[in-house]
Amino acid sequence: MRLAPSILAGDFARLGEQVAAAEQAGADRIHVDVMDGHFVPNLSMGPAVVQSVRRVTRLPLETHLMVSDPDAFLEAFAEAGSDSLLVHWEGNANLHRTVQRIKALGKRAGVAINPATPASVLEEILGDVEQVLVMTVNPGFGHQHFIHTTLPKIGRVRQMVEQLDRWCDVEVDGGIDATTAPLVIDAGANVLVAGSAIFNDAEGVAAAMKRLGRG
Ligand code: DX5
Ligand code: ZN
Repeated sequence: MRLAPSILAGDFARLGEQVAAAEQAGADRIHVDVMDGHFVPNLSMGPAVVQSVRRVTRLPLETHLMVSDPDAFLEAFAEAGSDSLLVHWEGNANLHRTVQRIKALGKRAGVAINPATPASVLEEILGDVEQVLVMTVNPGFGHQHFIHTTLPKIGRVRQMVEQLDRWCDVEVDGGIDATTAPLVIDAGANVLVAGSAIFNDAEGVAAAMKRLGRG
């Protein structure tokens, strides 16, 4: 199991310190949530934040693009230091082209699907990506309740991925904590994004990550 702390829940006044604490505590990558106030009803961060975080960690940075026009931002987030770019299936009529562009930038490509989107939409694009992000909450905010009806879908995605002749991460995002982490792992996820469970824990980042099975 790999752990990707989501800095959306971090204290932006001391983000560098918090990312360093997560790296120290055994994080495998850092998850960066980008929201444009259009694809989702919230605004979060831009390439400047990726650039800053890039300076304080060697961990892979995965940028989750919850934006209506991801193609307009691929270069900027790639240049800022993202190692992978996760784009949504929803609303992207040219997903195949977007994925090819991410790969042409030398970055890992991933596709994200929302809770109401069936796993079957991945059929044609799965062969081109290295990560599938199964949203376990409706995107746009941290600290939401985990949607339990997404569990069987994680299993379906795992089955689809196992048909491939190469590795592809099955990643989950939203409402992951010490209670839901074992459920998603049992369902077939191998990468867990967690924001509030890590950065809002009263006992600190290291204790929180231990509770999630790290360290
Ligand atoms: C939500 C984001 C998530 C979020 C997770 O749209 O994609 O990455 O930050 O936060 P928690 O773990 O607090 O649900
Ligand atoms: Zn996310």
